Amino acid sequence: MKKILLIGQTGQLGAELIKEGASFDFEIISFEKNNLNVNDRLQIEKKIIEIKPDVLINTSAYHVLSQCEQNPDKAMLTNFIAVRNLAELCRDNNVVFVTYSTDYVFDGQKGLAYEESDLSNPLQVYGFSKLAGEYAALSIFPEGTFVIRTNGVYGGKNGSPEKNGNFVLNIIKEANNKELIEVSAEQIVSPTYASDLSVASLKLLNSQALPGIYHLVNEGSCSWYEFTQEIYKLNGIKKLLKPIDRGGLSGGIKRPKFSALQNTKAKALGIILPSWQDGLNRYVTFLKNF
Ligand SMILES: NC(=O)c1ccc[n+]([C@@H]2O[C@H](COP(=O)([O-])OP(=O)(O)OC[C@H]3O[C@@H](n4cnc5c(N)ncnc54)[C@H](OP(=O)(O)O)[C@@H]3O)[C@@H](O)[C@H]2O)c1
Repeated sequence: MKKILLIGQTGQLGAELIKEGASFDFEIISFEKNNLNVNDRLQIEKKIIEIKPDVLINTSAYHVLSQCEQNPDKAMLTNFIAVRNLAELCRDNNVVFVTYSTDYVFDGQKGLAYEESDLSNPLQVYGFSKLAGEYAALSIFPEGTFVIRTNGVYGGKNGSPEKNGNFVLNIIKEANNKELIEVSAEQIVSPTYASDLSVASLKLLNSQALPGIYHLVNEGSCSWYEFTQEIYKLNGIKKLLKPIDRGGLSGGIKRPKFSALQNTKAKALGIILPSWQDGLNRYVTFLKNF
């Protein structure tokens, strides 16, 4: 059984990786943030030497967009410097390194779902800091780094501890407080269930995949408006929904208008994720049964 040292056990993705690990014959070892902080290089190094993992998976991020704009130094510390340090430690200790990135490395100008080889051009501090992390890891440890880009992640009963929820939970909450709900119809995304992302990530690790960048999202794409329509339909919520065009801006921060991703490389390896509708359906069922 291979050992995985996991950073981010309380997160949407981290929690799902822990759930799924055993069925892929991985022993997943994780710690609370205080005992495994990506910004504490020495602490991480000690854990790697003590545990001797085969793989290190980093799901941590500084990813609230407004906070990244206000504190670019913090965004760079967690999303770039820490990722660079992890890549160095993994290289020096012969550990496979997996770290997550985002659709926000793209500017959305392509107008079609992005493939792994497409040119990046981030529009905001968050995307820039994550792209810096990608470059650092892939240049320091190209022979052992997997960068997995994903999009619109949702999962768990409470969603992301960093973001205080997720789109699905927040838009359901909004329906309790408002009569008219306005949702962006111009931003096209590939919303992804953390459970499907974790399974696909573990399949990738169990495959003959070569290191490099991989896109892993639920299949297909939709606007946030269409996603909301589906969430409300599945929950029997009958509120007035209004599609709006925010011109790619939200809270004054630029977002790509079209940042759906294609899982081109994973598909070539036979790793197929369910559609976004299927992922959402299972998440809504999970929330109802919780
Ligand atoms: N959520 C999305 O919509 C989305 C979209 C595209 C890409 N991604 C990427 O996907 C990955 C996983 O996202 P997610 O939604 O699962 O995130 P999440 O739910 O917010 O979880 C982040 C995890 O990282 C931990 N963490 C934060 N700062 C840390 C630090 N300094 N040291 C160690 N751990 C730290 C958090 O711990 P605490 O709870 O203790 O703070 C939490 O367990 C991230 O790399 C993110 O950039 C996410």
